Order: sequence, then C-alpha cells, then structure tokens
Amino acid sequence: MQAQDLVNHIRGHRCYDHPLFRDWAAVEPDAETIGALFHHIQRLCACTRPALNFENGLARLEHNEESEILASIVKSEADHGLQLAAMAAHTVNRRSGKQLFTRLSDQQAVEAQLAAYSRRKLGGLPGYNAATSSLPEDRRVSEVFGRRASVDAESTYLNIGALLAIELLANGHIIPGEVHCLLDAGLYGLDIEDPEMEYLKEHAGEAGAENWHEREAIRAVEGVLDLSNEHLVLHGANDCLDSIAALWDVLDKGLLT
Ligand SMILES: [Fe+2]
Ligand SMILES: [Fe+2]
Repeated sequence: MQAQDLVNHIRGHRCYDHPLFRDWAAVEPDAETIGALFHHIQRLCACTRPALNFENGLARLEHNEESEILASIVKSEADHGLQLAAMAAHTVNRRSGKQLFTRLSDQQAVEAQLAAYSRRKLGGLPGYNAATSSLPEDRRVSEVFGRRASVDAESTYLNIGALLAIELLANGHIIPGEVHCLLDAGLYGLDIEDPEMEYLKEHAGEAGAENWHEREAIRAVEGVLDLSNEHLVLHGANDCLDSIAALWDVLDKGLLT
C-alpha cells in the first residue's frame, strides 16, 4: 500500500461526503440547535489538537522527521479553540437576532453555554452523559485520539492513520462544510472578513491551515508506511472515519431531520 492508496481510501469513505453540513444549510436550524451542533464540533476538534505523547511514540520508532511534522501541526493549533468558540457564539447570536452570547472572547463561558444547548436538545438520547455533555459517539472519537497518550509501536501506527484521516477530513469535509453552511448558504449574513470568522479565514482554502496540515500529514505517512505497519495505519484511519461518521449520523438525525 502507498500513502496515495490510503488518501484515496479516506476520500472514498462515507464520512468524507457526509450530508451533515448540507443538511444544516437546507434545514436552517434554530439558534439553540446550531449551538448544540457547535458543541459537538468543538468537542471533536478539541480532542484532535493535543499531541499527548504521540511525538515521543514517533521518536521512539526513530521517525524523527515525522515527529517534527506532528509537532509543527500541533503548534499551529494554538488559539483555534478560542477562534472556534467566537465563531460559534457569533453565528448563534446572528441566528437568534439576540445577544445570547455577550462575551465572544470568553472561550470557557461560550463552551459552557454551547454544552447547555446540547443537553437541552440531545440530553434524552440513549447513553447521553449530562455531566460531560457527551454522546457515546463523542466519547468514541475521544478514545480514538486518546491513544496518543500511549507510546507503544502499535498505538503510534494507529495514531498515524488517524492523523491522516482527521487532516484530510478537516481540509476536504469539515472546513468546506462549515464554509458552505455558515458563509455560502447566506443564512446568517456572515462574511469571511468579519473578525468573528477568523477561524474559517485561517483554516479554509489553498493558503489555509488545513491544506498545509493535509500535505504534512501525507508526508508523514509516506515516511512511515511499510508492509509491516500498513494494516495498523489503515486501521487507525478507519477508526477515525467510522467514529466521526457515527457522530455525524446521530447529530444529523437528532438535530437536522
Ligand atoms: Fe485548527
Ligand atoms: Fe488540521
């Protein structure tokens, strides 16, 4: 298997073309529903940002260049949680026509309010944990990225696969999906140049962070992939894709139909 085969596999997975964001634009959900959607999106993004011990895992296998690639991707994620919270709060305010969020720069307060919308909208679903405002599907995604805490070879190869999958998803599905429903659908009067939309400005397009992450993740996989580990790398990519597809299914069904 070549890195390009893995890339093609990920781009052919149903998660990569999941209807979640198209349905969002078509259904025009109310403000609290948008808040709930953003809660689960922010939870997903937050668990993919920290490297935990992944860098050490790569270094222990003498994949030093790949360890550096990972470190540079992780470093570029600083501030993204803050920007995402501001964008979410601003969008919910616009949809509601009220100042439901008063301090867009207070990341913690914004996230707590988004979580409250999730509990209100999805709290009755089976397995929903009100203490952590999480669905079983959120917890499964966290588990997949939580493997970065382990430095053994098997976990490290799984993590390389999950890294490639999340960077391809971010660049080819999640960020374009957000651009579609927040900007292009024209529902909220938002503009990419609005200061509150800094998150998308930084992430989207040819010069955006995700395009660069995608290229770097492919380069890292090229450096690591061989016959001895390809089954693990593929497995890790599938764990990421399957877990996010399952989460999107529940959000789509629970909030957008
Ligand atoms: Fe980011
Ligand atoms: Fe990324």
